[in-house]
Amino acid sequence: MTSNTAQQDAAVADKTILTTSAYADGRHLAARQSIYRWQQPQYDLPGLVEEELARTSGTVFDIGCGNGKFVSRLRKDRPDLQVVGIDISVGILAGVEKPVLVADAQTLPFADDSADAVLALHMLYHVADIEATIKEMARVLRPGGVLIASTNSDTDKQELDRLWTRAAGEILGVPKGPARVSLSSRFSLEKAPRYLGAEFNEIRIQQLPGTITVADPAPIVAHLASYEAWAEQCGVPFEETVRRVAEIVDETINAEGSFKITCLGGILACRR
Ligand SMILES: C[S@@+](CC[C@H](N)C(=O)[O-])C[C@H]1O[C@@H](n2cnc3c(N)ncnc32)[C@H](O)[C@@H]1O
Repeated sequence: MTSNTAQQDAAVADKTILTTSAYADGRHLAARQSIYRWQQPQYDLPGLVEEELARTSGTVFDIGCGNGKFVSRLRKDRPDLQVVGIDISVGILAGVEKPVLVADAQTLPFADDSADAVLALHMLYHVADIEATIKEMARVLRPGGVLIASTNSDTDKQELDRLWTRAAGEILGVPKGPARVSLSSRFSLEKAPRYLGAEFNEIRIQQLPGTITVADPAPIVAHLASYEAWAEQCGVPFEETVRRVAEIVDETINAEGSFKITCLGGILACRR
């Protein structure tokens, strides 16, 4: 488990970094999503969200929809729903089919009780005020509606944490380098129930454990390189560290045949 410094936490929720760099377009997000191709078991995340929406009709707000992975799948499989993609980044919404809206989850431009379901998938760790945002999501959700959130565990991808610390240490010439920036730790699977419990009294958690096995450093390099937006908060030359990571992973694959990463994500379905 990596724990961020206060400066790293602030950068994870920094709107300028999010909109002009991290999610200026879908490139970095796609690189992070693509590593799951090598995970076993495979989870169909949009399919799991659809199962949670089986009893929902009407309007769904996908808040922090990013590159529209869930929006497009829902529109295809559930044409009966009115799905609105909402994101703080104009750039990332450019590739998402309309209707989409640029808005901040912390101040949603919607009336009370206007959604039948709200999705907050891998995004609540990016908002500055997590409590206020959940309150805002609960405000726009009609009574009986469902909020579906997702995030990763504090234990997710620990092998990448160790890999980064080792590579950073070697670059800096110290036994252990600074920890990599953790995106989900502000709203991890362990912290999420307490935050969501302030507004929702029924929370069902579905844990999604798995193992990623790669026989080529490229997916790991792409994943770690996607944190470029937070390079300044790493305390080590970023590109040099990514290059050293590639060498270490290559050595491990040559010695052991593969590099393994243990994963734990989860989906939380919340009702009042
Ligand atoms: C990790 S991506 C997740 C994208 C998508 N929900 C998914 O699971 O594939 C986080 C997204 O949340 C958006 N975001 C971050 N802060 C936000 C905010 N305050 N309001 C709305 N969207 C936000 C980012 O721009 C980014 O597209």
